[in-house]
Amino acid sequence: MKILAIETSCDETAICLVEHKENNTKTIGDISILGNSVSSQANLHAEFGGVFPSLAKREHAKNIVPVLLDTLNQSGVITANKIKLNDEQLEFLKEIFKHEPELFEIFISHIPQISQNDIDYICVTTGPGLAPALWVGVNFAKALSFVFDIPVLQINHMEGHVVSPLLTNNAEFPAISLLISGGHTELIYTDKIGSYNKIGQTLDDAVGEAYDKTARLLGLTYPGGPKISLLAQKYRELNNYNKISTISLPRPMINSKDLNFSFSGLKTSVLYLIRNLEKNDALNEDMKILISAEFEQAVTDVLISKLIFAIKNNPVKTVLVGGGVSANVYIKENIQKAVFEFDNQIKILFPEKDLSTDNAVMIAMAGITKILDNDFDKKENGLGDIVAQANWEL
Ligand code: KG4
Ligand code: ZN
Repeated sequence: MKILAIETSCDETAICLVEHKENNTKTIGDISILGNSVSSQANLHAEFGGVFPSLAKREHAKNIVPVLLDTLNQSGVITANKIKLNDEQLEFLKEIFKHEPELFEIFISHIPQISQNDIDYICVTTGPGLAPALWVGVNFAKALSFVFDIPVLQINHMEGHVVSPLLTNNAEFPAISLLISGGHTELIYTDKIGSYNKIGQTLDDAVGEAYDKTARLLGLTYPGGPKISLLAQKYRELNNYNKISTISLPRPMINSKDLNFSFSGLKTSVLYLIRNLEKNDALNEDMKILISAEFEQAVTDVLISKLIFAIKNNPVKTVLVGGGVSANVYIKENIQKAVFEFDNQIKILFPEKDLSTDNAVMIAMAGITKILDNDFDKKENGLGDIVAQANWEL
């Protein structure tokens, strides 16, 4: 079966077409990626220090058709024939796109004729995420579903991050997922794919958000994670680095006997530290490097401590890590080391770098689990039932 997956929950417009060889195996990662396209808006949001929802919506609406065409081109399924629509269909599409009139125009003039053999299911992220951004993907999925008569499945973005390491690996269950992204920091107990129990989460900022806010304080642009990480790496590589002063940042909630996190205090501590340094005209490049390294160490210490606490208290065969921050090599290596030292029988799986940050392949994989288990409501195929759910809990 062939699955077209659509992801627009934040600042990436992503679409892929994958084929799952269902006859051979029930492994969700056993797919061929026929086409995969991602258009990132990160540079546009840089000046706001984070994702600006109405700008995200506008950019998704502008980019989603080119991203689809790129995916179809890569897949070799594109035809030269444009779709032909009658007046009734045009009226219906206009209604679907009533909040994205610019997308209506692009849709009717650029969508090619697709044969039903090309796509069996459409999977779309309906939450959690920024509502205006999610709606673009949702309405686009509805429009494709309506024009080509293809069923739509609603996918939870966080389930995508949970299954993202399984493209290249098999997990044994039960597993614990550590989800670390710009919007979420969660520990999820999973006794099988599709069954999730949240056992811990951040009480305020997500880890990626803490990276982005701290980066902003240091004068670095959004997304801050990779930039802080580069500075921290620089610090660690300079063995004879001359520490100007020793700084120490808090490890919030590291000893609390629960699985919750808090990162807003860490960012506030950086803010006070920077204010003091600025007063003394001491916020130079060396100091920024030192702050970045200490910040990254504080985050790493907290994540490891909570993850190990979670493993101690739950029977676990696999640890799955997902979300944009899992692209961080230092955090990845230290989590691997800590889990191995705690129990070398536990498998620890990370996504490939491209699947760490937001993408459509993970949404297709989450969809495949539902299709294989027949775990989706046929009513979901009804156009009216599909809505964006900004706060959808896994
Ligand atoms: O999963 P993702 O692409 O989007 C959300 O669902 O939020 O995660 C984006 C977040 C941003 O906060 C970004 O700064 C962070 O992931 N990030 C990183 C790294 N790469 C991306 N944080 C730390 N180190 C990295 N290498
Ligand atoms: Zn994400």
